[in-house]
Amino acid sequence: MKLLIMGPPGAGKGTQAEVLVKELNITHISTGDMFRAAIKEGTEMGKKAKEYMDKGALVPDEVVVGMVKDRLSKPDCQDGFLLDGFPRTLEQAKALDATLNDMNIQLNGVINIAVPREKLMARLTGRRVCKGCGASYHVLFNKPEVEGKCNSCGGELYQRSDDNEEAVGNRLDVYEAQTQPLIDYYQGQGLLLNINGDQEIKKVLEDILAALKK
Ligand code: AP5
Ligand code: ZN
Repeated sequence: MKLLIMGPPGAGKGTQAEVLVKELNITHISTGDMFRAAIKEGTEMGKKAKEYMDKGALVPDEVVVGMVKDRLSKPDCQDGFLLDGFPRTLEQAKALDATLNDMNIQLNGVINIAVPREKLMARLTGRRVCKGCGASYHVLFNKPEVEGKCNSCGGELYQRSDDNEEAVGNRLDVYEAQTQPLIDYYQGQGLLLNINGDQEIKKVLEDILAALKK
């Protein structure tokens, strides 16, 4: 299956993607994770991306589009993928359409997780992420079995540098101005699967799997 997962920052894209890709046996492509890996490696692109990310701004389209194009051409994407955090602007969506068209690939669906804005600040400022495998936890809503340690790999949990109130506020504004319009774009293509993300993590997953079966 070839899928996109979208929704505001903190909607639970990463949390759901982690389980979905195992369930569907497809490759997870998260542009946020790719940038964080580049920052960790200290590449030029990583250094540039960090400046935008720390403020809660978007990395310029040409950088993201090139990176995703390259990633989609890798062999592990041939049998299916879940794109998470891309596209985020109309320009990125159009570039993705052109790329998929060139590759003769048809998307099967766009999962849109909706959560009211007032819930997102608490989700993001309380998030903790595993240094080892990138899994997301929450100090209240999704606690690890052992405090500060990842359930699956035992890695140490940390707080992302863009999960402070100021950066989160910017990310939410940027989402509403630039990414929300893509809901209509994919609705128009008949691909949109609307999911209520304001429910327990397990229930959100069930709803996504049910929507994909229809
Ligand atoms: P990215 O890493 O994509 O961040 P984001 O979109 O802001 O999304 P998040 O990872 O914050 O949220 P999520 O929906 O995955 O939530 P999660 O599952 O962790 O991007 C970061 C930055 O990179 C951008 O700001 C930008 O600078 C740059 N970038 C990336 N892609 C780009 C692009 N295409 N173009 C330009 N720039 C780009 O859940 C959040 C928390 O809530 C967790 O603590 C979790 O445990 C908890 N939670 C999850 N589900 C539930 C639930 N149902 N109930 C209660 N709590 C829940
Ligand atoms: Zn881990």
